Amino acid sequence: MLGKEKIERYFAERAKRMKASMIRQLLRYVAEMPDVISFGGGMPDPASFPIKEVREIVDYLVDELGPTVLQYGSTIGSSTLRAQVVKFMAEMGIKLSGIENVIITTGSQQALDLLARVFIDAGDAVIVENPTYLAAINAFSLFQPRFVGIPMDGEGMRIDLLEEALKKLKSEGRRVKFVYLIPTCQNPTGISMSMERRKWLLELASQYDLLVVEDDPYSHILFKPTEFKRLKAMDEEGRVIYMGTFSKIISPGLRVGWMAAEQPIIDKMEIAKQAIDLCTSPFTQLIAAEILRRGILKTHIPRITKIYKEKCQLMLESLEEFFPENCDWSRPVGGFFIFVYLQQGVDADAMLDKALERKVAYVPGKHFHVGGGGENTLRLSYSYAKPELIREGIRRLGEVVREFSGT
Ligand SMILES: Cc1ncc(COP(=O)(O)O)c(C=O)c1O
Repeated sequence: MLGKEKIERYFAERAKRMKASMIRQLLRYVAEMPDVISFGGGMPDPASFPIKEVREIVDYLVDELGPTVLQYGSTIGSSTLRAQVVKFMAEMGIKLSGIENVIITTGSQQALDLLARVFIDAGDAVIVENPTYLAAINAFSLFQPRFVGIPMDGEGMRIDLLEEALKKLKSEGRRVKFVYLIPTCQNPTGISMSMERRKWLLELASQYDLLVVEDDPYSHILFKPTEFKRLKAMDEEGRVIYMGTFSKIISPGLRVGWMAAEQPIIDKMEIAKQAIDLCTSPFTQLIAAEILRRGILKTHIPRITKIYKEKCQLMLESLEEFFPENCDWSRPVGGFFIFVYLQQGVDADAMLDKALERKVAYVPGKHFHVGGGGENTLRLSYSYAKPELIREGIRRLGEVVREFSGT
């Protein structure tokens, strides 16, 4: 038998740069330990899935459309779904010219991969919030960009620091391709960018001639009514590439997301996608389209928002009760995550083994950072754990933090 070492000799240089995602490894490990309370992955609450509606829709689609629901579809996606997405985006305040501005993707994770393939040359500067979404870092890394991480505060990315970074990069003659952000209910912090900063960001994008990528999985799960505009809704120059997904508001098992952008970008994405999966599942695209057509999300989104709001509240109260005073954490405006700052010098990565011994899991925050840092941080997801286990999990974790940090 060829052993691991011998087989690895055949791998392309590119494959050698592929690193296992910390979250995926953790989820696999935790899945084998059913007694672990997991605040690790950002999985939706199974109670949030519209099972009854999906069952009815599947019957309806099979009766109405017959075998076509099981046939290949076009690479760019079902025109029925793309038309529904255009309508859905109009309700979100985003006016698109038509379905030519939309490509359906296999989750928004594929949109991240397509983005990287189409835009990143080795050495290009890619600007991200620091911390940012781990799987975006992984998707981009394969194409060897130079990451520039811009710190965040309670109003999102520090645009004053972005401006400084852009000036510096320009003076060094470096090419910046895009700024990637999750401006609303960010992963991993739960923070939303203020309107003032959104405007300033787009002004800088215009001044420095940049593309802006708005990754937006969580903006429908907002815990209190908030006046805000998506970046794409404020985009007068066609610079914003918008990524949406049904993973958090319907089900991640559908694997249906989309990208909305200027047509030349969509056309290039379509070509890149042809070689990857030929098409996103036409069956699940039609399910998503029918959910939109029937207006199910109008009642479904408030129902699931209530679930996540209550869980978030429970986790915040438990942190207050069980964590040492020298810790701090974000107060999410929506979405799935709380970001915790432990005492300086405490290594959340090294603490994870102790937490797993006590049967509780989280993701160490340093993995969400580019260019180092964040060792004393961790991400907690309240989306998946059962409400009755959230308090117990945080109680255990509080004890681990106290023992580990000696407080
Ligand atoms: C910020 C962000 N982008 C993209 C994704 C990928 O979502 P999906 O591929 O399920 O649409 C996620 C999933 O957690 C996410 O948090």
